[in-house]
Amino acid sequence: MKFWILILCFLFIPPVSTTCYNLGSLQCWPEEIQEMILMISGEDTYRYNCSGKTDEEWYKTGVKRVGWGIYYVTAGIFFQLIGWPVLYIFLTKFSMTHALKVYRVMVFIGLIEITEVWGNSIWPGIVAIFGEVYCTSPRITTIAGKITMVQWVLGSSSAVFLGLHRITDLSQKGEWLVNTNLKTSFWLALLSVYSIYGSIFYDTILFNSQYMAPIFNPMTGQEGIVYSNNFLYFHNIIVSVLLISVYTLLCYLWMSRDMHASSHHVSKFQRSILYQSICISLTYAVPACSFASMFLFTTPAWFFHASDITYQLSGGLPFIMYISLNQKVQDEFLDLVGICPGKRHKAVAPTGNSAMNSYISGTAKI
Ligand SMILES: *[C@@H]1O[C@H](CO)[C@@H](O)[C@H](O)[C@H]1NC(C)=O
Repeated sequence: MKFWILILCFLFIPPVSTTCYNLGSLQCWPEEIQEMILMISGEDTYRYNCSGKTDEEWYKTGVKRVGWGIYYVTAGIFFQLIGWPVLYIFLTKFSMTHALKVYRVMVFIGLIEITEVWGNSIWPGIVAIFGEVYCTSPRITTIAGKITMVQWVLGSSSAVFLGLHRITDLSQKGEWLVNTNLKTSFWLALLSVYSIYGSIFYDTILFNSQYMAPIFNPMTGQEGIVYSNNFLYFHNIIVSVLLISVYTLLCYLWMSRDMHASSHHVSKFQRSILYQSICISLTYAVPACSFASMFLFTTPAWFFHASDITYQLSGGLPFIMYISLNQKVQDEFLDLVGICPGKRHKAVAPTGNSAMNSYISGTAKI
C-alpha cells in the first residue's frame, strides 16, 4: 500500500507545479505532456520547431543509407518471423507450473523485445533508406522514440529482475518476494510505471539518418536549446552496473552450489535457465554499457552507430539463443516451420545439449 502511495505521489508531482486544474484543456497539463502531444500531432513546438525549412530541404539534411536500411529492415523482419513462433511455443508448449514460473518473466521480456523490433530495427531501416530526419516525419519519429524508450527501459530492468529472481531461487533467500504470480506481476507493474514515467517526462530519443542512432537533438538547427535525458542517462549506468553485478553473483552462486547439488535434475534445470538468463542479460548489458559510455565520454560518430547496432540486435538475438540453447524450443520450432515434421522428437538423442533441457519435456518435473 505504501508503495502505491509513493508511486502516486511520484506521478502527480509534475502537475502540481502548474496552477490550473482543468484537465480538459491541454495548457493545464505538465509542459512535457503538452510538448509530447504537439509532437505526436505533428505540430511545431518551441523546442522542436520544423518551420524553418520545407520538407524537401529537410530531406537534404538527412543521409540516405540504402545498404544499412536494407540490413535493418531485413533483420527486423527476420526477427519477427522467428520471434513470434518462439513466443507461441513458450506460451502453448510449456506448462507454467510452480517450477517454471521463471518462464513468465522470460515471456514478458520476449513480448517486449519482439515488439521493440518495430521501433529499433524496422523503423530505423526505413529512416535510413529514405534519409529521414525528425522534421520529415515528426509524428512517427516521436511515437517510435517514446515507445522504444519504454521498451528499452522496461526490458533492461526486467532483465535485472530476472537475475534477482534467479538469485532468490539459487540462494533460497528472499523467495517470499517473488514466490507468487501476483508478487511477480506487482514488481513488473512497478517497473512498467517507472519506464512509462521516464518516457513521458523526459526528452524523446529521435532516430536520425545522419547519425544512424537514436539521439535527443532533433537537428532542427535551433540554437541555445539543450536536449537531454537524465533519466535514460542514469538508467543506462545503473542498469549496466546492476546487470553485470547481478549476473556475476549469480554465476558465483551457481559455481559454489554445483559442488554439493543434491538433485541432478534440479541443477540441470537451473543451469539451463541460468544460461538463457545470462544470454538475455548480455543482449541488454552490451548496449546499456555502450550507451552509458556514449554519455560519459566523447565518442566518435561511428560509435553511435555501433551502439545502435548492438541495441538493434538486442531485440532479436534472444530468440536465436532460445532456439539454440533450449532443446524443447528448438524441436517445436523446427516442427512449426515444417523441417522434418514429427520426426525430430524421436530422433533426439540424449546428447549433452538435449539432456540439459530434458527436464522440460517431462523427464524431470520438479
Ligand atoms: C517556429 O519558428 C518560427 C520562425 O523560425 C516562428 O515564427 C514560430 O513562432 C516558431 N514556432 C513555435 C511554436 O515556437
